[in-house]
Amino acid sequence: LAKIEIKLSDIPEGKNVVFQWRGKPLFVRHRTPEEIKTEQSVDLASLRDPQADSDRTKDPKWLILLGVCTHLGCVPIANVGEFGGYYCPCHGSHYDASGRIRKGPAPLNLEVPQHEFMEGGILVVG
Ligand code: FES
Repeated sequence: LAKIEIKLSDIPEGKNVVFQWRGKPLFVRHRTPEEIKTEQSVDLASLRDPQADSDRTKDPKWLILLGVCTHLGCVPIANVGEFGGYYCPCHGSHYDASGRIRKGPAPLNLEVPQHEFMEGGILVVG
């Protein structure tokens, strides 16, 4: 399937739900106000792959990611690791709650796929 539709009201605040999309894991994370505040205040100069949180989200409450580690492609685990976002157990990459690489061997941030928010609380990815 080229596109996937997700009903956002099914995803409670603080949860990262995993979907399958184009044969890959797709993460949809409903971020808490604390996570949003933390990620928006990160010093971009401290990042390996500098990207502002506002350039990675269309609505700060929702973080949409491909769940594919940019090191060698394992699936990171949500809400584990030193930066409050994701941890890849294969070789120890730590990502923050904006999906940005913060520590470990991965070179790049987790990819944000093309997505849109539609009427009625529907997210369309693809
Ligand atoms: Fe994720 Fe190596 S595949 S750290």
